[in-house]
This record gives sequence, C-alpha cells and structure tokens, in this order.
Amino acid sequence: MPPIWVVTVASLVFLRTFSVAQDQALEEAWKGWKGLHAKEYLEEEEVFRRAVWEKNLRRIQLHNLEASLGKHSYRLAMNHLGDLTEEEFNQMLNGFYPPGPVEHHGGNPSLFRESASLENPKEVDWRKKGYVTPVKNQGHCGACWAFSATGALEGLLFNKTGKLVSLSEQNLIDCSGKLGNHGCHGGYITRAFEYVRENGGINSEDAYPYLEKEGFNCRYNPQERAANCTSQVEVQRGSEAALEQAVATTGPVSVAVDAHSFFFHFYKSGIFSSIFCSNVVNHAMLAVGYGTSQEDGKEYWILKNSWSENWGEQGYMRLVKGAGNHCGVANQASYPTV
Ligand SMILES: *[C@@H]1O[C@H](CO)[C@@H](O)[C@H](O)[C@H]1NC(C)=O
Ligand SMILES: *[C@@H]1O[C@H](CO)[C@@H](O)[C@H](O)[C@H]1NC(C)=O
Repeated sequence: MPPIWVVTVASLVFLRTFSVAQDQALEEAWKGWKGLHAKEYLEEEEVFRRAVWEKNLRRIQLHNLEASLGKHSYRLAMNHLGDLTEEEFNQMLNGFYPPGPVEHHGGNPSLFRESASLENPKEVDWRKKGYVTPVKNQGHCGACWAFSATGALEGLLFNKTGKLVSLSEQNLIDCSGKLGNHGCHGGYITRAFEYVRENGGINSEDAYPYLEKEGFNCRYNPQERAANCTSQVEVQRGSEAALEQAVATTGPVSVAVDAHSFFFHFYKSGIFSSIFCSNVVNHAMLAVGYGTSQEDGKEYWILKNSWSENWGEQGYMRLVKGAGNHCGVANQASYPTV
C-alpha cells in the first residue's frame, strides 16, 4: 500500500483553504506530538498535516469542554492518528464487509439464540481470566476483520488448552483471499474463521509476524499450526441479549460496529454513545465482556480494538449496552469453535 501521507491533488486544494489557520501557540504541542509518534513529513505536506491536526485538536477540545459540562458520557483525546482527515481514517481503518447475498463458502455456521432460562452474570471480563492477548495495532492497513477473528480464536484456544497464544493476522491477510477477503482493503470475520477451518489451521503471531501490508504470497506453514477451527457460530442478528449470553457462556466474541465518526476515532475514555453512530457496521472488534457503571448504572460492552493502546482506554472502548443495539454492535457477532 502506498503511504497515506502522500499529498494528493485533492489535499492540495484542501491545503490552500486551511493553511492560513495555523495557530503559533500550538507550535510546541505540534512538535511534541510529532516527536511522540515519530511523524516525519515533507515540507509541503507538513502544512497540510498540521492544519488537519489543528482542526482535529479543536474538535476534541470542544467535545471535552461539553463533556465537562455534562453533555457527554465519554471524553476524546488526540492520538497517533490525529493527522488524518475523517475520510482518510475511514478509508484506512474501517475494513469490515457486512455479508453480501452469497455469504458462506461451505462452512455451515450454527445460530446462537438466547435462552431465557439461563441467567447471565451481571459482569463478565475475559481479560481477567487470561483469555485476551495484549492490544495490537493494525497500523495503516484495513485488516480489522483479521484482528477480530484472531481475538476470538485466541480466547477459545485458551479455554481449550489453558495457554494464551497470539495468532497471526498476516496469515489471514495473505491466505484468505480465495474466500473473498481483501487483505488490507477489508474482509469478513466469518470468512477468516472459514479459512482456518478449510486450511486446517492458523499459525501463531511469532511464526507468521504482522507486516502491516499484504504479503506477496501465502506463507502458512502446517508444521507451525497453533490453532484449529472446527466450525463457527453466528449470534442471532441484532439481539444484544443473545450477544450477552454468547459472551457470558463462550468467551470473547467477534463483533462489528459503526466506527465511521470523528468521535469514535478520537475516543479516549468513558461510556461511548453518540448520535453519529448508526447501525451500519464497518469496523470489526472483539467483545471481551460487559458490565455496569458504578457511577450512573449505565450498562456497557467492553470492546477490544486494534488501534494500539494509544486509543481509548488502553486500547479498549466501553460502548453503551442495552440502548437499542447502539452502533449495530449485535448485528454481525460470531465466534469460532476450536
Ligand atoms: C473453558 O470453558 C468451560 C465451559 O465454559 C469452563 O468450565 C472451563 O473452566 C474453561 N477453561 C478455562 C481454561 O478457562
Ligand atoms: C489441530 O488438528 C489436528 C488434526 O485434527 C491435530 O493434530 C492438532 O493437534 C490440532 N492442533 C491444535 C493446536 O489444536
């Protein structure tokens, strides 16, 4: 993939309108931010990136001011992605395809429905039980679908073997193309599971490390098989009650949400809930638990993201739960069996 910071004609037009707005008082902050995240630009481009960063910063500050006045249940913060426009952010990072009319290749997923006779625990957090690997960073590659899939496999593998092994997204990126996935340009969680089943395994992160780009060919090594997938289960579409029960009884579950908005991109802490979040999902994450806020009794999902620990609550988001399937969190939930 070409680096995203190549200045395009469109951005030069944008630059002309925005470059005038540079605030000298932000000079030190800009330098500090660049240093922290090891950003380097060509001279022309720097003017453009600075303008984008300043615009983002002001929106973040305004939101946090409103949050401190009680208007929002969550705060934002500048992060390592603060020099991207909303369009770039979405192009780069939201790589989940919702299922089309021809969804399944061979594998016959079963359906998880809520059983009313079962009572779920009030709180679940699989991180505390050792089911969850450290937060990863997809970088400039739209392979959220692969990160979500490895997360669910890692949890269930831990349940089976008692060992937590980080699994290879690169394996999925390079090798599941024949099932209709598009590497850094998006893919389906269900087809990642299907690849592992059909292939008879997936390699570990150590054996097949992440490159942040599409490899030239598939380098799966059957000798280094770290996990299997026997089948997959889809959670009853749109039902947060079913999702809750799946998370409570199974382990971490792959989900997809609408992550297109500015507020999602710069989420820092608190319980996320935004009028700009729709039911049309475009970003894959991993539901690792749920709980209830002690301050205001608000329920939330705990979602693992793949945008590094710089984003959100050390890489996680608490998303409002039981508020009408907010951000479409229960629309595309699934998990493998290992
Ligand atoms: C795996 O799941 C089963 C059933 O939910 C549970 O009884 C068992 O303790 C789990 N194993 C581990 C290692 O957590
Ligand atoms: C995966 O399945 C193969 C064949 O069924 C088996 O030999 C292997 O031990 C399994 N590996 C893991 C990690 O479960």
